Amino acid sequence: MPVTAYDLTGRTAFVTGAASGIGRASAALLAQAGATVHCADRDEQGLHETTDLIKQAGGTAHPHPLDVSDRTQITEAIATAARTSGGSLDIMAAIAGIMHSSPVLETRDEDLDRVLAINFKGVLYACQEAARTMIASGTRGSIVTMASGAIDTGGPGLLCYGVTKAAVVQLTKTLATEVGPHGIRVNAVAPGWIRTPMTTRHDDRAQAHTESLMVRMSPLGRVGEPEDIAHAVLHLASDAAAFTTGQILRPNGGVAMPW
Ligand SMILES: NC(=O)c1ccc[n+]([C@@H]2O[C@H](COP(=O)([O-])OP(=O)(O)OC[C@H]3O[C@@H](n4cnc5c(N)ncnc54)[C@H](O)[C@@H]3O)[C@@H](O)[C@H]2O)c1
Repeated sequence: MPVTAYDLTGRTAFVTGAASGIGRASAALLAQAGATVHCADRDEQGLHETTDLIKQAGGTAHPHPLDVSDRTQITEAIATAARTSGGSLDIMAAIAGIMHSSPVLETRDEDLDRVLAINFKGVLYACQEAARTMIASGTRGSIVTMASGAIDTGGPGLLCYGVTKAAVVQLTKTLATEVGPHGIRVNAVAPGWIRTPMTTRHDDRAQAHTESLMVRMSPLGRVGEPEDIAHAVLHLASDAAAFTTGQILRPNGGVAMPW
């Protein structure tokens, strides 16, 4: 018998960062579970690859090329997505983000501003518009944000990135208390090291070193794949997590970040 709590047939989802890695895998899995998925990203080519992938698998997907750090662009795209579904939005997965690494003593204002604009403000704008849309249509929706294992530990160069992910956690917990009375749930996923373009852009030796460290530190003896995190997103987005809100789910293979 199918487990119906994970069935998203008839639901509308909006996924940011959908052109790559965790966002792409999440968009594909939400579509596989039956949702109509609106995919947003600034990488237009990657975005179309994702929507093609979903359509080829028999799902429904719409591309929204945009920059999440631009409030007007994200607000308009969510409004467009909701219009195609009679004004409602059931799921927001705010996944888009960037990595930045610089020692504290070398961190410039513009570094911090850039990472905050995408990793925090971009998530804030998406959450605000999603929650407003859900409240207006009386939808008991689910909002999922993307934090990181960096929330649990410091590490060389991690200041800007870690600050933005800690801010995402605060947003998640605060918003959960404010929109809970409307039946809207808000949760975060804080992945460990996942093999995506974000983590594999480094040179081969550095990547091999980090991967082997992660494998040794995980009781499961492997690194994470985007699909591991997509399943966490699906769980929190679905009715299976109907009594879960304001929580941080840590799919990290059993380890904290290896700093
Ligand atoms: N990969 C990991 O190990 C890991 C671990 C913890 C958390 N995360 C988080 O997961 C999320 C996804 O990361 P990933 O590993 O899939 O990386 P990725 O680089 O593969 O994907 C990130 C996506 O976000 C998009 N994006 C970046 N800035 C944008 C902007 N201003 N507007 C619109 N789109 C933008 C990129 O174009 C890209 O498609 C990020 O928030 C990241 O911080 C990743």
